[in-house]
Amino acid sequence: MKKIAVLTSGGDAPGMNTAIRAVVRRAIFKGFEVYGVQNGYKGLIEGDFISMNLGSVGDILHRGGTILRSSRSEEFKTNEGQQRALVQLNNKAVNGLVVIGGDGSFRGAKKLSELGVATIGIPGSIDNDIPGTDYAIGFDTAVNTAVSAIDQIRDTASSHERTFIIEVMGRDAGDIALWAGMCAGAESIIIPEAHQDLDDIIERIKQGQQRGKTHSIIVVAEGVGKGLQIGNNIREKTGFDTKVTILGHIQRGGSPSAYDRMISSQMGAKAVDLLDEGEHGVMVGIKNAQLIHRAFGEAEKDKHTIDLSIYDLARSLSI
Ligand code: ADP
Ligand code: F6P
Repeated sequence: MKKIAVLTSGGDAPGMNTAIRAVVRRAIFKGFEVYGVQNGYKGLIEGDFISMNLGSVGDILHRGGTILRSSRSEEFKTNEGQQRALVQLNNKAVNGLVVIGGDGSFRGAKKLSELGVATIGIPGSIDNDIPGTDYAIGFDTAVNTAVSAIDQIRDTASSHERTFIIEVMGRDAGDIALWAGMCAGAESIIIPEAHQDLDDIIERIKQGQQRGKTHSIIVVAEGVGKGLQIGNNIREKTGFDTKVTILGHIQRGGSPSAYDRMISSQMGAKAVDLLDEGEHGVMVGIKNAQLIHRAFGEAEKDKHTIDLSIYDLARSLSI
């Protein structure tokens, strides 16, 4: 009988629980024994394993966060840390590991794979910036959370004729800002992948005011690192009543959207099927709307790109 383990690592994302459920249920369906590793690679080093059964993953598919909890482990980046993890996996006679996380977690998964552990990655990150896949679990939910928040801010912005700078998450990537900005009708979207000029942003606000707009929404990606600064600059240069809202970790929590539940379920089952077929050292992903898998080494050579035609479209629609 195969014994597999599943863990979540790095920043949590809505849909991780749905993916854990899919891994556990598919594995039991196939007759495997399943362990959950608590606290990501930190728990793997410490041997924090729990037995999982059908009931362990009951009532979690709609919940945000991760029941296995997550961590960032500096120790796991070292050879010693990885060797300690290997000992723990061998002690439990685990012969397959599913890692749900971002590209950092996949670098760790690749190391384990090179040490002989049959490892499969499932991409989970609200930033949607993982090389080798068009989609990472959690992005859709995070964008929907950001859009709802911006819609609410728009109400009060209109009442008070204010300009709002809304900073959204995305450590190095502008995907959440781009999608939330487009879907919430922001006047300007500021992302690391495109140059933005303050005078142009101000000009767009003024044009809107001249034709009677009572609010201005500017969405800025955290990766640009300047939400508060941009707010101050606009206030000082124009005298506009300008407020800054940083959405922060609200975007990381919450019930996963139907899309995230669907993708998480498919990816979780696929990871188990791959292990069953003897495939490993790969990540599951979505390419051109198809479920795919690629070797960690190949996937990491991909560069995450953003669709700048959406950026141009947003600019042309929010005049
Ligand atoms: P994410 O997986 O969301 O990108 P991190 O970049 O913080 O989040 O990575 C999560 C964890 O993966 C790290 O805390 C570390 O334990 C492990 N990890 C990251 N990079 C490496 C690496 N080069 N080698 C081994 N483990 C790594
Ligand atoms: O990678 C997901 C993410 O939420 C980024 O958008 C953000 O920069 C980072 O994680 C925040 O990490 P932490 O929760 O550790 O502060």
